[in-house]
Amino acid sequence: MSGHGDPIPMTAHKAQALSGTAEVPGDKSVSHRALILGALAVGETKITGLLEGQDVLDTAKAMRSFGAEVVQHEPGSWSVHGVGVGGFAEPDDVIDCGNSGTGVRLIMGAMATTPITATFTGDASLRKRPMGRVTDPLSLFGTQTIGRSGGRLPMTIVGAEDPIPILYEVPVPSAQVKSAILLAGLNAPGQTVVYEAEATRDHTERMLRGFGASLKIEAAGKGHTITLDGQPELEPQTIVVPRDPSSAAFPVCAALIVEGSDVLVPGIGLNPTRAGLFETLREMGADLTYENERVEGGEPVADLRAKYSADMKGIEVPAERAPSMIDEYPILSVVAANATGKTVMRGVKELRVKESDRIDAMASGLAVCGVGVEEEDDVFIVDGKGPGSVPGGATCESRLDHRIAMSLLICGLASEKPVSVDDVGPIATSFPIFESLMEELGAKLERTAE
Ligand code: S3P
Repeated sequence: MSGHGDPIPMTAHKAQALSGTAEVPGDKSVSHRALILGALAVGETKITGLLEGQDVLDTAKAMRSFGAEVVQHEPGSWSVHGVGVGGFAEPDDVIDCGNSGTGVRLIMGAMATTPITATFTGDASLRKRPMGRVTDPLSLFGTQTIGRSGGRLPMTIVGAEDPIPILYEVPVPSAQVKSAILLAGLNAPGQTVVYEAEATRDHTERMLRGFGASLKIEAAGKGHTITLDGQPELEPQTIVVPRDPSSAAFPVCAALIVEGSDVLVPGIGLNPTRAGLFETLREMGADLTYENERVEGGEPVADLRAKYSADMKGIEVPAERAPSMIDEYPILSVVAANATGKTVMRGVKELRVKESDRIDAMASGLAVCGVGVEEEDDVFIVDGKGPGSVPGGATCESRLDHRIAMSLLICGLASEKPVSVDDVGPIATSFPIFESLMEELGAKLERTAE
């Protein structure tokens, strides 16, 4: 569990060539949505490949609190008996979403147009994150919200009695905000319209259609509008969750920077709204190939093969690519530290409101490992040391952030001296088998005393 247990310090040592097959767990974004839409359908939704990370388990627990029956049959195989659109019951206790911004924001949307009251909280990281980006549009439906100053959790949401459908332009590129509005729109009569200037991950739209909602996507201005017809009867589905590209990023990037490596990561979801990292790595000169490209459960999927790449160069990563790789900048910055020349990441200020301020967390971690970094509000620059030439020999903070913890451990696998991370507990939120999976590939990760 993140943020609840004692800190778990870990040290990553320089590794020999990594090799083998890395079966990463199910996609976190798709897993949250499968549980929530399953709870909003009438009847039994069956899910396989569900990510059993703490974030998703917290969403499963929340769906039970709203009256759905959520059952694990065997690892990864779950069913949800939903209560229908507008059928959520009032929870009798506070909903604790742990570390998960996606969980809390999507669930707030899903209950906002049902006349029930729910109070939400989370761990120390989640209680710092802005919720106004979701509660502002929800209030237009007629929902009342009261939280701590700055729109922080804990927060109570009083669902609208007579919700009014809305037309809303999302002010920051955010799939969480877009999805919260669409989920709220499900129980509003008439059409709810969301305008997004920059495309963000579209799992909610794909899955809503799969559940039988009527959804229209049309080009408009620089972006597109999504129009949802309210009050559909959602039909239960059988959902196969693809493996998470954001988790695959860790063994893939480890293979690129550890000399002699050759790693296959099969069955990775390659939805174009998620694949920006792999495009960027190829531009840097990474030896990364897609094998066996196919479509599974409505999502494009491929096997990724990553080989050690001694000639990677620093590049400019354009701002418009940020939404398609928003969770991957921490690990990209580690690859950039092992490339030659500067990597300039633009349009990245959303990273400052993730599980931690990820620009600051990675800039600090890389700096103590001997890497030159520069940061502006919206720009992060890493001055590459060249392959295998990051000095390391430092202890870094994970700041309650799973992706920071994993990125800095991967950094240690290719650094001259070991890299320690003060607390790797948060990794369990998204990638509970990270340690064993990396060790099977040949990584040297050691649980260390504080
Ligand atoms: C997510 C959207 C992204 C991402 C998060 C998961 C989702 O956040 O960072 O890890 O599942 O919708 P934003 O859409 O707020 O950028």
